[in-house]
Amino acid sequence: MSRRVAILLSGSGSNMVALVESMVGDHPARPCVVLSNVRQAGGLEKAEARGIPTGVVDHRPFRGDREGFEALLQEALAVHAPDIICLAGFMRVLTESFVAPWQGRMINIHPSLLPRYRGLNTHARALEAGDSEAGCTVHEVTAALDDGPILGQARVPVLPGDSAQSLAARVLAKEHILYPAVLRRFAAGDRTPVMLG
Ligand code: GRF
Repeated sequence: MSRRVAILLSGSGSNMVALVESMVGDHPARPCVVLSNVRQAGGLEKAEARGIPTGVVDHRPFRGDREGFEALLQEALAVHAPDIICLAGFMRVLTESFVAPWQGRMINIHPSLLPRYRGLNTHARALEAGDSEAGCTVHEVTAALDDGPILGQARVPVLPGDSAQSLAARVLAKEHILYPAVLRRFAAGDRTPVMLG
């Protein structure tokens, strides 16, 4: 039976689209829901257009009450009984109590070659450091931010004259290849890292 995949996002959802479009044919998984903490997230419309159930769990009423937000998120997820959660540009830090029950079943994509540049502004930081290459990482989610076992990485060159925007675009194109490749393996129970580029 297909594994059920929930995708969490906060933004435009281009990684979500890449994941959804990959889950066809003999793929071991299928999308079951796309949830966002941001009602206006472009990814929600894209999911609806593809016939995937969507939902919004707004974090703003829960200022100072992260666990309250996460309890609601957990409820919204439970309705769809996912086996796997893919974070795809989900811009909320999740606490240990949310992460623990999902450990080994929740994965994230991060736009850097971890362990370099956890957190935000990864491309600007790579340029600032004078790195000659950049990339993206898919990893299992643990309670520590942008940490957890690495399931795949893809590399791109940093080119002369790159801005954070041009580098981000080059990395994003690789994210759309890496994330589906990792999910396919992961959903089949294979945690061997996918190394691209
Ligand atoms: C991607 O760069 C991803 O690595 C980061 O947030 C961005 C999401 O982009 N975590 P999109 O919403 O998938 O287009």
